[in-house]
Amino acid sequence: MTSMLTRAVGAPVARLEGPAKVSGSARYAAEYPQDHLAYGWIVPSPVARGRLDAVLIDPAEEEDVLAVLWYGNAPHLEKSDDPELTVLQSDEIRYRGQPLALVIATTLEAARRSAQAVQLDIAGEEHDVELRADHPGLYTPSSVVPGLPAESADGDVEAALAVAPVTVDAVYETPAVHNNPMEPHATIARWDGQDLVLYDSNQHPHGVAATLGTIFGLPAERVHVVAEHIGGGFGSKGTARPNAVLAALGSWVTGRPVQVVLPRQAMFSLVGHRAPTVQRIRIGATEDGVLTAIDHQTCTQSSRLLEFVESASVVTRDMYPVPNLRTGHQVVRLDVPTPRWMRAPGEAPGMVGLECALDELADQIGLDPVELRIRNSSANPRYVECLRSGAERFGWSGRDRRAGQRRDGEWLVGTGMAGATYPALVMPSTARVRALGDDEYEVAIAAADLGTGARTVLAQIAADELGVPVERIHMLIGDSTLPQASVAGGSSGTASWGWAVTGACRALRSGTSPSPVEATFDTTESVQQQQGNKHAFGAHFAEVRVSTVTGEIRVSRLLGMYDAGRVLNPRTARSQFIGGMIMGMGMALHEESVLDPAQGTWVNHDLAEYHIPTHADVEQIDAAWLDTPDPDLNPMGSKGIGEIGIVGSPAAVLNAIWHATTTRIRHLPARLDKLLPTLP
Ligand code: MOS
Repeated sequence: MTSMLTRAVGAPVARLEGPAKVSGSARYAAEYPQDHLAYGWIVPSPVARGRLDAVLIDPAEEEDVLAVLWYGNAPHLEKSDDPELTVLQSDEIRYRGQPLALVIATTLEAARRSAQAVQLDIAGEEHDVELRADHPGLYTPSSVVPGLPAESADGDVEAALAVAPVTVDAVYETPAVHNNPMEPHATIARWDGQDLVLYDSNQHPHGVAATLGTIFGLPAERVHVVAEHIGGGFGSKGTARPNAVLAALGSWVTGRPVQVVLPRQAMFSLVGHRAPTVQRIRIGATEDGVLTAIDHQTCTQSSRLLEFVESASVVTRDMYPVPNLRTGHQVVRLDVPTPRWMRAPGEAPGMVGLECALDELADQIGLDPVELRIRNSSANPRYVECLRSGAERFGWSGRDRRAGQRRDGEWLVGTGMAGATYPALVMPSTARVRALGDDEYEVAIAAADLGTGARTVLAQIAADELGVPVERIHMLIGDSTLPQASVAGGSSGTASWGWAVTGACRALRSGTSPSPVEATFDTTESVQQQQGNKHAFGAHFAEVRVSTVTGEIRVSRLLGMYDAGRVLNPRTARSQFIGGMIMGMGMALHEESVLDPAQGTWVNHDLAEYHIPTHADVEQIDAAWLDTPDPDLNPMGSKGIGEIGIVGSPAAVLNAIWHATTTRIRHLPARLDKLLPTLP
């Protein structure tokens, strides 16, 4: 057991992760070999609300089955601040897909077969899963994610709107959408005596260790979380998910290592969705396009178990200075799974409202939408530079912005743009560096690499600071026994961990560390001294072609231009930017999780019916950046890049669709069935 752990942490260090991934030697959570591994399969609730009275297993299935756990026989768990994690503890059913039992068997096939044969004795109750802007259950929450005030008010919005010569009043709707990382959420759990070992696909080994510790009544250091390689997460792996708790329960009861891998369909109910929003946005402006008032109000949903509020109106507080500005959120608690983190929570849907409404304003005034934004951003030179250089690189023509003019055979061609922003965050972390001799160094920090290239970039930062080639750096990450690191989320990973790595390397080189061969640096104090609300900015440009025959929308060109401080690795940065842009394009055109009001279930809960962009959907895509270090943020001068790519991309595509067709799609996604009836 111990040797297995040492191997996992000490690795045979894959200095270059590319070859490890291509050759298959890079291990993901469910791939760690275990003796006597058993397999857990979840029995999901078939109803959205009700009571579970009993679980009956078919005796014919019992041979390979080691245990069937449900609340009637499962070990007691301590309370967690995430009630979705305290599984199998009560008879209450709060959402469809909720784990009601876990079947553990000696083979995966037996576990699945037995789970399907399990009989549930359920008393169903009436449920409500429909978000409506006039839902009587809507209320103003105490805060919105990540802990911001639900409302803000400056000046007198109503008075300013009443006298504004130009106004826009529009409702934008974004549907529920789901995170679909390539690697599903997966855990292998094993108890070494009273210590819990988890191979778990997550964005935050320390956080998962602390959460599982709380639930199992253990100090965090008795929980060892390994997350060496991760196949994407987008926020859905930012916190522990039920698969980790179920695997740990199963292992406790059977005395064997137990694996729980979520099938794609189960991910739709167990890993969280981006909540749908209904946004009303009202804008007042002068005839020259100077903004005088904005009111941005969002209605959204959460679950019965937890208040998680998608903060779609928040971005409007930071984007343009407006003397009269009001923002607010209302939420209704429904019988649905809890919404969760998804790339740019708040900003991604919120900028659909704001940046599409600004496009409507520009059209009314007859002003180039790029110029409209420049006119309202004089205090934000980096954003203005993104707008100008993005427009130039794209070949943007602001001269004639009347819609529906360019035709190429059956295709209507149009261009659109939108602004983007994302907070530049940093969180406390600790790194350790050791001199191994011969100019070789080991750098250790419990960071998580989602597939973004975090391991590579941290090694580069260390190599720069130590003045050695990057091959001399042995990076150890993805393990909760390493020095504490913040979550791979909020676009803060590289800034937070890189700062700690820089500090440790400088301490070693300067000899200020007590040991000549090892130094540790904790950024907590420096991070706490940071002040102010800092942001990255960007501009998105899109060209679309809409077929007048089929209504099909093709995005023929997509460009993102960013101010993200110093870009540390152009190759991995570009991949983050264009990944976000494509995800935003998917949000504009394809992605929609359809909830059946009668059954309370996501109808299209697989990749055959839930559509995300494929290679064929991405034609010409490019990302560029100003590359101006921002020395106030951290020693590298970098800002986060993981999320800003998704922020303005949907609005740019939607604005281009309007330019091509004269139709404003205000209810996402812009599918051909919505567009076709309006086409010439
Ligand atoms: Mo991202 S939603 O902050 O992991």
